[in-house]
Amino acid sequence: MNQRFQEMMQTELDRLEKDGLSVRIRTLESEQGPACTIDGKYVVNLAANNYLGIIGRKDVKEAAKKAIDEYGVGAGAVKTIIGNTQLIVEAEKKLAKFKDVEAVLMYQAGLTANSGTIPALVHEGDIIFSDELNHASIIDGCRLSKARIVPFKHCDVASLEEKMKEHDSETGTKMVVTDGVFSMDGDIAPLADMVAVAKQHGAITMVDDAHGEGVLGDHGRGIVNYFHLEGEVDVEVGTLSKAFGVVGGYAAGSRTLVEFLKNKSRPILFSSSMTPADAGAIVKVVDILMESDDLVHKLWENAAYFKAKMKAFGFDTWRSETPITPIIIGDSKLAKNLSAKLFERGVFAQSLGFPTVPQGLARIRCMLCASHTKEQLDFAADMFHEAAVELGILKS
Ligand SMILES: Cc1ncc(COP(=O)(O)O)c(C=O)c1O
Repeated sequence: MNQRFQEMMQTELDRLEKDGLSVRIRTLESEQGPACTIDGKYVVNLAANNYLGIIGRKDVKEAAKKAIDEYGVGAGAVKTIIGNTQLIVEAEKKLAKFKDVEAVLMYQAGLTANSGTIPALVHEGDIIFSDELNHASIIDGCRLSKARIVPFKHCDVASLEEKMKEHDSETGTKMVVTDGVFSMDGDIAPLADMVAVAKQHGAITMVDDAHGEGVLGDHGRGIVNYFHLEGEVDVEVGTLSKAFGVVGGYAAGSRTLVEFLKNKSRPILFSSSMTPADAGAIVKVVDILMESDDLVHKLWENAAYFKAKMKAFGFDTWRSETPITPIIIGDSKLAKNLSAKLFERGVFAQSLGFPTVPQGLARIRCMLCASHTKEQLDFAADMFHEAAVELGILKS
């Protein structure tokens, strides 16, 4: 073992710990629901992206079990060799209908969908206009592409337009890329205006709908439906690991886009395909969402209820417009302490600091879900208040 290398890592770990930025990975010991057992403690769960409470649904579990019985547990190879099960094909078709696009291509995760789509579409000599707060997987995809990255101010269409004007004379493909719903702030990209500006300047558009599907639009169809932009956005990327409650990602758009990505996108060509259980579960989840929008309504009702309670206590919920509810604390250590106090009191809500969020804007991110009961939300809000008063964050 190289001692110098070990010491280098330990020094950085010590610094992270000192600054309240080290990661503590907890262990889930029960099925994930609105309340669950973590590290031996039963807690109200305000940390999961399980927006619609799908993870524990009996019918989805049955679909996954049936898929295992029929196809086995693994994909066996990449999609382009033998990993493309009939279930994946069915999930792609259903998802295309749900998203109102010509075609969908399944990836193994939202991360690989973003980091594998962008470099397939833009290259050295091209320009990507990227919201400054875009998700890490978009940033990775941009970097891998070797295109020039031009950041614009967060959700600021005037800033995007200004940057695009500066590069009007340049040739090569131009792409505007944004998160749909921003995962740390819970605000919504002004996608209709961004698409209009992109078109004026001859650029293609890409949106990551990770936190929009199952949440925004009719029956949770996502941000494109929410803004009535069907057919206007060149590339939609998403994840099946949040509202869908499973795991996986996808790219959606024209048939040509999907054929192109099948031939050019590295996670499709070089990483094994989605498992049968995941594909089977996803097929079922699309059916559930198409049948009824009750869960989507319940999610928004719960989010509004919790936000109102937290605001009444004097908490700052930042610029959230969606069920992602950040509680701004500022200092990373204080946010971490608050998260620990909440855990002691039976509430699990994760603190997030730099570099996940900007310096000085550490927060506790509360993720609301359709299956939370009012009692659980009341309890969680009360515990937040109690712990924040104890730590001097709120007066009383
Ligand atoms: C905006 C956004 N895009 C993509 C991802 C990645 O999705 P997945 O967890 O499916 O890899 C996430 C999840 O953290 C996300 O928040």
